[in-house]
Parts: sequence; C-alpha cells; structure tokens
Amino acid sequence: MLSVTTADTDPLEIDADLLVVPAFKGGIEGPGAARVLDALGLDSLPVTPEFRGDIGQSLVLAAPQLPCRGVMFVGLGRMDATDAERLRRAAGVAARAGRHVGRIATTLPQVHAGTAVLEAIAEGFHLGGYADRRFKTDEDGAPRLAEVVLLVASSQQQHAAEALRRAEIYARATIAARDLVNLPPDRKRPPQLADAVSRLVGDACEITVLDEATLRDEGFNGILAVGRGSSAPPRLVEIRYRPTNPLGHVVLVGKGITFDTGGLSLKRGTSMNTMKSDMAGAAAVAATCSVLAELGVRLEVTGLLALAENLPGSDAQRPDDVITMHGGVTVEVRDTDAEGRLVLADALDYGAGMQPDAMVDLATLTGSAINAVGHFAAALMGTDSDLCASLLRAAEVSGESLWSLPLWTDLERFLDTPIADINNTGDGAGGGSIMGGLFLKRFVGDVPWAHLDIAGPAFLGAEQAGHYLPVGATGYGVRTLLAWLERRAD
Ligand code: BES
Ligand code: MN
Ligand code: ZN
Repeated sequence: MLSVTTADTDPLEIDADLLVVPAFKGGIEGPGAARVLDALGLDSLPVTPEFRGDIGQSLVLAAPQLPCRGVMFVGLGRMDATDAERLRRAAGVAARAGRHVGRIATTLPQVHAGTAVLEAIAEGFHLGGYADRRFKTDEDGAPRLAEVVLLVASSQQQHAAEALRRAEIYARATIAARDLVNLPPDRKRPPQLADAVSRLVGDACEITVLDEATLRDEGFNGILAVGRGSSAPPRLVEIRYRPTNPLGHVVLVGKGITFDTGGLSLKRGTSMNTMKSDMAGAAAVAATCSVLAELGVRLEVTGLLALAENLPGSDAQRPDDVITMHGGVTVEVRDTDAEGRLVLADALDYGAGMQPDAMVDLATLTGSAINAVGHFAAALMGTDSDLCASLLRAAEVSGESLWSLPLWTDLERFLDTPIADINNTGDGAGGGSIMGGLFLKRFVGDVPWAHLDIAGPAFLGAEQAGHYLPVGATGYGVRTLLAWLERRAD
C-alpha cells in the first residue's frame, strides 16, 4: 500500500514528482491552482476538449519552474457539488493517472476543511493506487507510486493523523478483499481459501474451519451438495470477533463459491469467465472481520463463510435432486447454477441459531441484479426496515451505491414444488434477484436480516473501471460494512 502523510509545506516549494491540484468544471481553479499557474507563466487553466474540470478528467503539464517535476490538474466537477465521494474519486483518478511516478503531493484537501474529507481523499489514493501484480513476472522497472503527501493548512494538521489511520485501515481491508477475489481459482479452492482467510484474520479474531466430515456430521447438506462435484471439499469458516463489553451481536454471512461453472447446469459461452469472483461476498466478510479490532468496534461480530467449488464432476449434484438442508427444510434442485442460495441457506440457518441482533449476507447471487441496478450498485433486500435503512445510510457514507428491491411475499408461491418444501429457482416469476432473496428468507427465522446482492459491483471489466475502482475485484461491501458496524456501535 501507499504511504499517505500530511504536511503544511507550500505547494510551490514541495519536492515531488507530481503536484496534483484540483480544478472545477469550466476550468475554475481550485486551491493552490492560481499560484501554480502563475509560477508556470499561465494566466488561466488551459481548457482543452479532454480537460474541462469534470470529475474523472486530468491534465498534466511540465513544470520546469517548480521543484516538482510536473503538475496534474484533476477535475472535481461543479464547484457547488463537491462532496466526500467526489474528492475520493478525484484522488483515485490522480493515483491511477500518476501510477508511474514515485511521489505525489496534492492540495486536494484544501477544497474542504474537515477530517471526513481528509479521510476520503486518503482512501481514494490508497484504493486508486491498487494494482494486482502478483502474477506479473515481466516487471518493467518503471517507478510505481509509493508516496502521497497531502498538503493541508497547519490548523488542519492536528486531526490528520487519526483520519489517515482510519483511511489506511478501511483501504487495507478493501484491498485484502480485492486480493482474495483476484486470486486465480486454482489457487483458492475451498481448503486453500480457508487457510488464506485464517492468515488474513490472524490474531484479530478466533477462527474455526469446519471440514467436510464436520459439515456432514452437523447436517450442512446445502454446502455439501454444491461441493460434491469438486475434488476439493467445501468448508464453512466461522470467524468470531469478541470485544469486551459488546453492545450487541451481528452475524455476517458471505457466499464463497471459489469458482462457479454452474455445475451440471453448465454455464454457456463466456458467462463462466470471471466466476472466480463468486466468492466476493465471503472475501468482503473476512476482510471486514480482519480490521474490527483495530477500529475498536464494540459489537460481537460472527463471520460465516460458506466455501464450495461448483464443478460438474462425476459425483456432482443433479437437477432433480432433493437436499435436506441444515435445519431440515427440503429443497428440490431445479438448476445447479442457483448454488449460491444453497450454501448461504445452511450458513444463514446456522447463524440464526445464534440469535444475533441482526444478520447481513453478501453474495454475488444473481445475474438479474446486474440487469436491475447495474454494475455500480448492489441490490438490497431484507426483513427489517430499520436495518435496511441503516445499511443504506452506511453505503452513502462509504460512497458504495446500494438500492432497495422489494421482497414481495406474493411471489413466494413460485418457490413451491410438489416434491419438496421449496425449489431453488423460483422460475416463472421473473425478478431473479427477488426470488433469490425470497429463497434465503426461508432460512433466517425471526432474526432481522438483510441481503446484499453484489453480483454487479464486486468485479468490473475495463469498460466499467474508473477513479478508485480498478479492473477486476473492487472489494465492494467492505467499507459499507465497516461504516455500518461502527455507526451501529456508536
Ligand atoms: N454466480 C452467479 C450469479 C452471477 C452472474 C454473479 C454474473 C456475477 C455475474 C449465480 O450463481 C448464478 O448462476 N445465478 C443464476 C441463478 C438462476 C440459475 C436461478 C443466474 O443469475 O442466472
Ligand atoms: Mn451459479
Ligand atoms: Zn454463483
């Protein structure tokens, strides 16, 4: 990760490879810009077709007159519309555009006073500076962005350290989730992923890994059914964070399909590509748990990761099979590609047995969620309006978009089947994300519960990546969960 620090140095004196200065829509100069332009011998900001001060845009000029080697103007959009998320994005743009310089200094924090803004900017740099190079052997020797200096007024310095510390923790957790999701699927089959999670969580929490024999003894037949087609057995990982004097107990559940081929209901064409990301819910839950102690969250938190690989091996579950789930509900398998809800149901039933105050699951559950709310938002469903409202508020703070879908009980009849309690597709109703949510609802008992379908925002292609969101895994959900847990314990 980057080193992000603050200093109250004059931008005209700072020694950096790149000085990042904000600009607003229409070429209006942000803090520091007028003096920088003056030093460069320009009377105003050059407005080109590629740079009009819009959010997402940047413009680099050489700066032979200054101690820094170059100046980058980053757009913030309309001057009256700047908020923490715009500054987070502008920082991400600067980090990505400046990824091949060693040291950046910036006057971005001078746009707005306040530690929340400083935190957002630092977070934007950390997240935008991420690149997964673990499997690159042809390192070109080009410099990589390593250091960012936030130029702030000396009056702002005092609360800066705490803001930088929090930004680093939030970003480190998000990056931990990205690293797990970006891991190739041959390197994170369920037993290996359980080990990687144990290493990530370290001493911050207690951790128990339920192996195949234990899952069998304890009736986790949904998880076992999905894992049957793979030579790598499934796992249920239980992470326990137990602070002293907790103010409540929350269970977080993550879908952890380490690769989703669809099983015997095999995915077609290229729809199988990127299915290494089908464990993004589990990665987000694990990464969240890994930093709760550092943030001093005063809630008991239990993370449950349902890990299985959905392959069409010779012992794979079949369409038409009936599973007796954890807790006894029977499920007719109509489509082995609707596997996420099968592994989650066992974990939700187990979590509900702990009688927590709230339970939240994250899952790359349905392609329909991408159709409904797109690649930049997750779909939220749940049984408790206060719980859902608090998650929506947390998502606003984190800058992760979240949008509600209804769980209409009227549609539950589409889960009916003549041969078992329910079927696993809910076919006929349309509304695939809602049907997934209604299926899960059968397993949560009376525990207030919310479900985030993160199929869209968990993993991005080149056409969607931008500002602090990279190509591939985004770590979606980590920052919202952390903000939600911190506010809930307040
Ligand atoms: N993992 C997929 C959902 C998904 C699709 C996530 C695309 C990210 C991108 C899930 O297991 C799945 O296959 N869902 C099916 C459910 C259907 C068979 C009822 C779907 O959405 O088509
Ligand atoms: Mn599937
Ligand atoms: Zn899946």
